[in-house]
Amino acid sequence: MGDIQTGFILSQIALHATEAAAVSCAKLRGFGRKNDADHAAVEAMRDSFRTAPFSGRVVIGEGEMDEAPMLYIGEELGAGGLKADIAVDPLEGTKLCANDAPNAMTVVALAPAGGLLHAPDMYMHKLAIGPGYPAGLIDLDVSPTENVMRLAKAKGVPVSEIRACLLDRPRHAAIIDELRKAGAGIRLIPDGDVAGVFWTTETARSGVDIYFGSGGAPEGVLAAAAIRCAGGQMQARLAPENDQEIARARAMGHKDVTRKLTLDDMVPGDVVFAASGVTDGSMLAGVLFAAEGAHVETVVWDSFSGRKSRVRSVISA
Ligand code: FBP
Repeated sequence: MGDIQTGFILSQIALHATEAAAVSCAKLRGFGRKNDADHAAVEAMRDSFRTAPFSGRVVIGEGEMDEAPMLYIGEELGAGGLKADIAVDPLEGTKLCANDAPNAMTVVALAPAGGLLHAPDMYMHKLAIGPGYPAGLIDLDVSPTENVMRLAKAKGVPVSEIRACLLDRPRHAAIIDELRKAGAGIRLIPDGDVAGVFWTTETARSGVDIYFGSGGAPEGVLAAAAIRCAGGQMQARLAPENDQEIARARAMGHKDVTRKLTLDDMVPGDVVFAASGVTDGSMLAGVLFAAEGAHVETVVWDSFSGRKSRVRSVISA
């Protein structure tokens, strides 16, 4: 099968999966029940994959087989065909959905088998920018100040016109303090760092130039898929917090657990990235329930063809 066909098939599969999950969990927006909302998204997404025309295997999912009954790592899904790796975050921002707060979304990345890093469930340091900059501009091993200064110079603006995004967490206090001293603008988000990274790919729409800070490693690989499709830059590093996490990372094939990960390490080849809005956000509208059905907005990015689509569907709900 040619690359363009692969991208086309995986795009359709990803689109249907994120849409189904978004409609399902959007019904639970604002009820304070984040686990129920997550469960609804997981069930709908899994159902969508079950009948899809591919042979998928979950590499980033809801957890290990013994802790997650659905979309667990290793679960095989699909009606047969093209062998693909599945990475999912069926509801990215479970609390955002439960609070009916902005930027909850459903996310999928699909790649031919072997095309996505197996990321253990632990923290990961992340640094990302969107497309249009010289290769190698940003570096996890230089200071946040140096990164925003390099970015400002490449963009041809003062640092005060660079906007960084971080999760609002005490563990980020030092980076926030440094960025403030450097004079950059900062968007602090309560949750949802896939969105934070994804925003760097369309600065004019989102207002975000650069993403800093640590969050879930699985979310990091999903975000890397978006960066790969958009042609941006990303580096990451696992951040295990104890010996068990180090052992878990090693068991998943990370021999040197503190090695700096490049985009090629996380997403070595072509990939499809899809995200549907659950609540309204900076890049995606949330699900709107109307008499004719549920209106869902999704971005489907396909690096096989270079196509970046924004799809608005009406789905019976
Ligand atoms: P959930 O959707 O699983 O609730 O995750 C939300 C999230 O904000 C992620 O986007 C992020 O990677 C992670 O949690 C950060 O973890 P923590 O809340 O421990 O800082």
